[in-house]
Amino acid sequence: MESSVSQFNFLGLKLDVFRGVYAPQEDSILLAKHTHSICGNILELGTGCGISALSNASRNPKNYVLGLDINPKAVKNAEYNASHNKIRNARFIQSDLFSVVPTLRFDAILFNPPYLPESHRPQGKPSPVDAALYSGRDGRLHTDSFLHHLDDYLLPGGKAFLVQSTHTDIPRTLELSHSLGFSSEIVEEQSFFFEKIALLKLFKE
Ligand SMILES: C[S@@+](CC[C@H](N)C(=O)[O-])C[C@H]1O[C@@H](n2cnc3c(N)ncnc32)[C@H](O)[C@@H]1O
Repeated sequence: MESSVSQFNFLGLKLDVFRGVYAPQEDSILLAKHTHSICGNILELGTGCGISALSNASRNPKNYVLGLDINPKAVKNAEYNASHNKIRNARFIQSDLFSVVPTLRFDAILFNPPYLPESHRPQGKPSPVDAALYSGRDGRLHTDSFLHHLDDYLLPGGKAFLVQSTHTDIPRTLELSHSLGFSSEIVEEQSFFFEKIALLKLFKE
């Protein structure tokens, strides 16, 4: 079994975080706390240890929740947390963004993407969680790709919940979403001394 580096409780779940998997932070809680009660077929991209996917699945036993992550350790970690919390309506698969679900559509899609510009990467030895943090020259690689493909994966009336940060340029994300035909709401913003994070809700009228 993989070694667990930390454990925490969230909404009645006991969650372990394996070495090499993103340990939930404020951005993770922001996404999970606003999405745990959504009903339907739910997709989470970049699920990490599964905090949002599993919170939703445990609260809504009739939902079907699919969590994807490019990191195979994250997939194992989320499966472990599902099994230890006796959650049977969530499944986890390794995938680069939407690549394993080419023909499926969902009622809600959640994503807390990597969003730091490469220039924030410290010099020296790479960390096993780098893939959870950095997203190209301007921090927008994952966000832009997600937005350009989102419409192909949402059911009519479906909604997306996307975490963004001042590092990714939130107005630019809103502008791109609108140019792709999405309406948007800022569900909640939180300010820290080094950045502001926001949860965006995107939908088509
Ligand atoms: C900021 S972490 C969020 C993890 C978790 N959802 C949370 O909120 O704690 C970003 C996650 O996206 C995953 N990821 C990075 N690139 C990806 C890609 N191309 N496709 C799918 N997942 C990816 C990382 O492995 C990481 O688990």
